[in-house]
Amino acid sequence: MITYLVTGGAGFIGSNFIEYMFGKYKDIKIINMDKLTYAGNLENLKSVENNKNYIFAQIDICNKEAVQGIFDKYDIDIVVNFAAESHVDRSIKEPEIFVKTNILGTVNLLNISKNAWIEGDHFKEGKKFLQVSTDEVYGSLGATGFFTETTPLDPHSPYSSSKTGADLMVKAYSDTYKMPINITRCSNNYGPYQFPEKLIPLMINNCLNKKDLPVYGDGMNIRDWLYVEDHCKAIDMVINNGKIGEVYNIGGHNERPNIYIIKTIIEYINKNIDSEVDERIIKYVEDRLGHDKRYGIDPGKIKDELGWEPDTTFEVGIVKTIKWYLDNKAWMDNITSGEYQKYYKNMYE
Ligand code: NAD
Ligand code: DAU
Repeated sequence: MITYLVTGGAGFIGSNFIEYMFGKYKDIKIINMDKLTYAGNLENLKSVENNKNYIFAQIDICNKEAVQGIFDKYDIDIVVNFAAESHVDRSIKEPEIFVKTNILGTVNLLNISKNAWIEGDHFKEGKKFLQVSTDEVYGSLGATGFFTETTPLDPHSPYSSSKTGADLMVKAYSDTYKMPINITRCSNNYGPYQFPEKLIPLMINNCLNKKDLPVYGDGMNIRDWLYVEDHCKAIDMVINNGKIGEVYNIGGHNERPNIYIIKTIIEYINKNIDSEVDERIIKYVEDRLGHDKRYGIDPGKIKDELGWEPDTTFEVGIVKTIKWYLDNKAWMDNITSGEYQKYYKNMYE
């Protein structure tokens, strides 16, 4: 039985990944190590919490003793490191925690994994450290071209710079110790369980509550959107078949300006849920500092080497996503009470 240590498994992508893996494999064990910051939510894991092969441990990835304790107790085969501070706007306000969790936390995991997996002058069979990185490490594109795995790293925000720092440390463990690693760099995800500080769930929630939709700048910044399950499928493929030491970009050629995404959400809600919601609730606000203009992934390598392709088109995925938030109103209400109110006021009012 393969034992996975999934860090950050109570967050958006991590919880979708755990659901995906238990849906696909019966004979795996998953230890979910999560600090449960504002972004971690055990409600996301209701469908797996009674699985006897699922274990939750509330641990900060920076905590040496606690992480070591998990490696002492379990024979970990695969580490999938999702744990991170993940929101660009928060990183602009408070960069330090991004350096701590995203860089130092990753180094702590690398070090403890290395010591557990090394045997004499080589690593034990079947071990791998997969770092879940992001397309933001490449910086920003002009009107043409795509990010490939050889595009120079040129991050701009404290968030993307901290993720780049983590990538380089993972590379250092590969180059120096020959530790078996992969790095994946995915574009913007959307789908169930995404915290409503991010564009799509924030806009859906505001539409449903008839609140202004805050659009940064002119709304013409472009992101390359991928349904979260397609990201999970890609990570699983990289774990199983990714060439040791390699980086894989993940994206489905689905670039859209922000304003297009927002108008799509408004249109669906107007037609299907509340005809009072229309484009009058769009509110152009001050731009994000250092706002990257355009992201666009070239997924050629993962397609050619591993046969990965996305299954969900944007048209299907966005409707599935809006419906999920409608069907899970209690989840959203729970998150948007308390601390979130303070965050929202501070950010937008
Ligand atoms: P998220 O913010 O929803 O979840 C992050 C999770 O990490 C939370 O459960 C949180 O409690 C946990 N965490 C934070 N600090 C921790 C610490 N010190 N120790 C242990 N756990 C900690 O993030 P997400 O959107 O699910 O992103 C997951 C990963 O994927 C991140 O590494 C992010 O950089 C990367 N990524 C995200 C996207 C995207 O569009 N969301 C795209 C590409 C890559
Ligand atoms: O590209 C991958 C990255 O995507 C991940 O690495 C990050 O963890 C994830 O947060 C995401 O970063 P972005 O900054 O692209 O996502 P966000 O949802 O914050 O913003 C998407 C775009 O929408 C961006 O151009 C800013 C804009 N925006 C965002 C918010 C929250 C608005 O116009 N208004 C808003 O209120």
